[in-house]
Amino acid sequence: MIRASCLYLHTLMITGTLLAIESSCDETSAAVVRDGDVVSLIISSQREHNSWGGVVPELASRAHLTSIAPVIREAMQKANASYGDLTAVAVTTEPGLVGSLLVGLNTAKGIAASLDVPLISVHHIEAHLLSVLLDNEKVEFPYLGLVVSGGHTLLYNVHEIGTYELLGATRDDAAGEAFDKGAKLLGLGYPGGPAIDRLAKEGDAVAHRFPRGVVKGRDLDFSFSGLKTSLRYFLRDHYPDATPTGKTLADICASYQEAIVDTLVSKSLKAIDSAGLKRLAVVGGVAANTRLREKMRQECERLGLDYYTVQPIHGTDNAAMIGIAGWQKLVRGIVSPLTVTAKASMIRAKAKQHDGGNGG
Ligand code: KG4
Ligand code: ZN
Repeated sequence: MIRASCLYLHTLMITGTLLAIESSCDETSAAVVRDGDVVSLIISSQREHNSWGGVVPELASRAHLTSIAPVIREAMQKANASYGDLTAVAVTTEPGLVGSLLVGLNTAKGIAASLDVPLISVHHIEAHLLSVLLDNEKVEFPYLGLVVSGGHTLLYNVHEIGTYELLGATRDDAAGEAFDKGAKLLGLGYPGGPAIDRLAKEGDAVAHRFPRGVVKGRDLDFSFSGLKTSLRYFLRDHYPDATPTGKTLADICASYQEAIVDTLVSKSLKAIDSAGLKRLAVVGGVAANTRLREKMRQECERLGLDYYTVQPIHGTDNAAMIGIAGWQKLVRGIVSPLTVTAKASMIRAKAKQHDGGNGG
């Protein structure tokens, strides 16, 4: 049966070997899933962008081109798999940098076509939301999914696999961007989240009070651009001659981080409350943040909520999450035609994703 951009396989498959590919931004990654378990994961993080303070799309596409073949080869070797073993190929098709997505997608199409195995298109955000399946013994639905990365700050009600309802999103900068831009102002380099996290451990989170972004009339939306601006003015007014160091720097990092974490925690709890949910998942690169993990855990314990998190390697962009999301589609018999395209779009409203993953 063919519907819109999807094909439904007639038989449900529960064993097999799936190759997963991720190339939506600045990580080139491949993973192999065997019978539902991730057996290898390789991630190559591009360093080309470090001196630019952010991801440069053209540099990203070129770097994917050079790393994709070796990354796939290594993932296959590590899994002790040969191409003849593959039963499907899963790949991120959206959202992301279109040039970068195309490198992964065209590679996946080539492998799937030459082996005559199904291609499975995976929505990157759906994969982040389902990444908790990689690290938590038991995941129950529905749950609130907070996606926090360098490109996204999103709140979803994950009703079940395939049904995601967008509850809130950032109006400007993503949480990771707020970390990165703050770190840049403090002379800490890119990406700045891990550096702020590390320095904040020695600092006092109430030493300074930075603003918590409010979006009028949209309680579950985020705004981080004012925070970054307030740090700029704070540094201009208090440290006009030189960037602070030592304990002063640690205090600023801890206070700045606290403003981001506070906002993420309070909006998540509001969303949990308004949607009547009992479980919370925090995913994406910023999910590695020590203070965010600690505060979310405390709040979940206080409120009796189940708390799902991911280990840092599964928080940052990676193909294991594409593999696990792709596997869920494969066992449901949902595959995509070779005509599937790459898109920059988002999962917006309550949308069934059982459509080949290309319907946005
Ligand atoms: O998910 P991710 O790898 O990707 C993209 O959006 O591409 O997330 C990267 C983001 C960066 O902004 C980085 O600064 C942030 O995650 N990040 C952190 C931490 N580790 C990574 N932010 C705060 N604390 C951390 N420990
Ligand atoms: Zn991502």
